[in-house]
Amino acid sequence: MQPFMTELAQDFDPEVPEDFDSPHIEYARLRRECPVAHTDGLGGFWALTRYEDVKRAASDSSTFITSVQNVVPKVAYTGRRPPLHLDPPEHTPYRKALNPLLSAERAEMFAGRARELTRHLLNPMVAKGGGDICVELSSYLPVHVFGEWMRMPEEWLDTLHDAGRAFILAVHSNVPEVMKETSLKLYDMARALIALRHEHPQDPALDPTTALIEARHEGQPLPDELLVGTVRQVLVVGIVAPMVMIGNICVHLSRDKALQQKLRADPSLIPAALEEFLRLYTPYRGFARTAVCPVEMGGRTINPGEAIALIYASANRDEDVFPDPDEFILDRPNIAQHLAFGRGPHNCPGVHLGRMQLRVAIEEILAATTEFELDGTVTVSRWPEIGALSVPLKFT
Ligand code: HEM
Repeated sequence: MQPFMTELAQDFDPEVPEDFDSPHIEYARLRRECPVAHTDGLGGFWALTRYEDVKRAASDSSTFITSVQNVVPKVAYTGRRPPLHLDPPEHTPYRKALNPLLSAERAEMFAGRARELTRHLLNPMVAKGGGDICVELSSYLPVHVFGEWMRMPEEWLDTLHDAGRAFILAVHSNVPEVMKETSLKLYDMARALIALRHEHPQDPALDPTTALIEARHEGQPLPDELLVGTVRQVLVVGIVAPMVMIGNICVHLSRDKALQQKLRADPSLIPAALEEFLRLYTPYRGFARTAVCPVEMGGRTINPGEAIALIYASANRDEDVFPDPDEFILDRPNIAQHLAFGRGPHNCPGVHLGRMQLRVAIEEILAATTEFELDGTVTVSRWPEIGALSVPLKFT
């Protein structure tokens, strides 16, 4: 224990080295001993670890706002990126423009292409008897699905993949200069895409960028710099979570061969299994809010302006809501209550596109193998995500 730490700073250390399981052990301790925890790490913030507190903060957007700090650690050198960085009602027109393009029906329209691509990525892995599922498959699939959904020029996808992965790795290595450089590269792509659509508009019912350009708030177009911010925001949030989730699921299935065989034998169980995987291995812990007034939570007082992380990954293992929270239980009665996609006005609009690619990826990985297992060390991400960045697998 460091002698000069304040009482608040001692609750937990978000910068401690982690493995795949250790953060969940720590969050179980916090839920038990200190469910509303404070740390001076990563710039200083409060962490909500219990389901009801996380749900309350995510749902009450008039008390818990995103426009001051929406993620831990704070990435503060670029402009605002809707929809995450805006509060309702300013936030609403961005969601109105994006939501129809992310319906369940539209998500399914990309399933064929996702499957084709997954097979293409799996072929060389099958041929050599395995490989790193994150590096060789799950870092590509979401980029390409996302690129199709954004109708990006095909030749941009390699750049998006490289810039997106470089950004994620830079965030995890916590080197501000590299984070800034890679984030700015993504901004350049966002700007170029908007310029392209201004020049050659597409059907707004099919193209997210054109839909945003044509969106109106109180009769006015959305400000240019916020349009760029939106496209830039979606570029990252749309690719990170599916990448981490596919790795997480493969770690679990490597450890639980019986479940692996069960899902392989009956792929109709995969959608239900996915919901339990999303609960168990929720890929986010760093989405944040600040309060507009002092709030009492878990016996602590949180002051206005102090960052509050909604630890979705911990809420989804809250034993008061999900009995035997660390167990994989297919068809849990209340699985629909999980918070893997958030709650309230900022809940994930990409839920169907996300679920579709997880389903396709798991179906194809299971179909292409008779069994797989871990073949080395799993590398894990740091805040704001939680989960696998590298998962070496051996296929049999
Ligand atoms: C497994 C996949 C995914 C998971 C688990 C996930 C999870 C989440 C969560 C928890 C939030 C809430 C943030 C908060 O409370 O502050 C969120 C927001 C968001 N997600 Fe996803 N996401 C996934 C896939 C996607 C995809 C494929 C897209 C692509 C379009 C996407 C776009 C967004 C956007 C734009 C927001 C911000 C919404 C707002 O602020 O109104 N997500 N996501």
